Amino acid sequence: MDNKNQRESLKSRIGFILLAAGCAIGLGNVWRFPFITGKYGGGAFVVIYLIFLIILGAPIMVMELAIGRAARHNIGKAMKALQPAGTKWHIYGHTAIAGNYLLMMFYTTVSGWILSYVFFMLRGDFAGLAPEGVGAFFGGLLGDPVTMLAWMTITVVFSFFITGIGLRDGVERVCKGMMVCLFLLMLALAVNSVFLPGAGEGIKFYLLPDFERLMAARAGEVIFAAMGQAFFTLSLGVGAIAIFGSYAEKKHSLPGESLRIIGLDTFVALMSGMIIFPACFAFGVNPDAGPGLIFVTLPNIFNQMAGGRLWGAVFFIFLSFAALTTVIAVFENIVSYWIDVYGWSRKKASVINAAAIVLLSVPCVLGFNVLSDFQPLGAHTNILDLEDFIFSTTLLPVGSLIFLLFCVSRYGWGWKNFIAEANTGKGLKFPHRARFYVTYILPLIIILVLIKGYWDIFAKG
Ligand code: ALA
Repeated sequence: MDNKNQRESLKSRIGFILLAAGCAIGLGNVWRFPFITGKYGGGAFVVIYLIFLIILGAPIMVMELAIGRAARHNIGKAMKALQPAGTKWHIYGHTAIAGNYLLMMFYTTVSGWILSYVFFMLRGDFAGLAPEGVGAFFGGLLGDPVTMLAWMTITVVFSFFITGIGLRDGVERVCKGMMVCLFLLMLALAVNSVFLPGAGEGIKFYLLPDFERLMAARAGEVIFAAMGQAFFTLSLGVGAIAIFGSYAEKKHSLPGESLRIIGLDTFVALMSGMIIFPACFAFGVNPDAGPGLIFVTLPNIFNQMAGGRLWGAVFFIFLSFAALTTVIAVFENIVSYWIDVYGWSRKKASVINAAAIVLLSVPCVLGFNVLSDFQPLGAHTNILDLEDFIFSTTLLPVGSLIFLLFCVSRYGWGWKNFIAEANTGKGLKFPHRARFYVTYILPLIIILVLIKGYWDIFAKG
């Protein structure tokens, strides 16, 4: 697919928005957002996260989409096509693809947990279990590498199968349907959760910001985590969003499309919080439970609902959709890299990468059992924490910064080219007067938060 004119495109605008939203909406919303919010104390974290979505997420999403749409290539080739002769921005394009592999190295394991829960729910494994029993069940899964490897492999093979079918008939068709079902079910379950006995405390924890508590804790680390979460949830900084820009038409301006994508993503994140936190307080689960939070909370909700076994299975099916649309979108990015840059066929790229990603995901699985003595970031941390840390709080901010500088610097693609591309088409425009902000202030915010976050975590110990 070397020739720009032959580039595949999506069937419809709604397909583009739902696909890009499907790439953004995933475990970041339904798994990572609740457990990070729980870990960092609730409402105040949510407020900082929302601010980052607006001040960082929105402009950088427009930039990534613009790079993709102007170049009509995967990020591995896009920066090369747009950069001034003799410059080396494209080196980051390849690093960004490495970042996609890094994400998949832990994402497929958690997606596998979610898929396995569909099966366990249907089999009735949680029926009659008290909250402690539900916690112990999840602990048992983590201690069983064979089961985890099996579900991770199913996730990878299924997703590459869809990517292998093709962009329109595979990726677009499947993701569109999955996203619509997810939105509806989340809304229904949030309403159910709010009416649980004792839910009020959870809603307070989640929605009432307590900035004093925040300042008393490690504010730098919390702000750093909120920035990482904003980048993670929107998949920014590694070209995973740029690829959908490369398939997009020029009929609509990119700021308007970006706000739609961010709006959908934020809706799903906020809804998951509304499902999880009332349930935590209703069933006595500590919101600080870490990556296992949704797995020890959600089955309790279904245990107390009439027909809960069926509802639970359906809900985990939709959570799998959220996870799988991201896996499929990231696989699409990886596969298109090998097609664009090395001229591989879609089938060949799909098969070889499926095998590679299964192998690369093994360390994360073993980190919970066989390799659990390896605690890279301190007591009780594991390989997943390390991979997530490198990806979310280092690679994504640094990658986003590079995209940003590429778009605003005259040594890169440059402001004029960027804004012309972003504003091509009907709809909301990127304001020209935002130039000073995105050129000088935004990079500074990212750099300062990065340095402060690293300082708080490593230097202060
Ligand atoms: N943006 C993706 C997610 O939220 C990585 O899961």
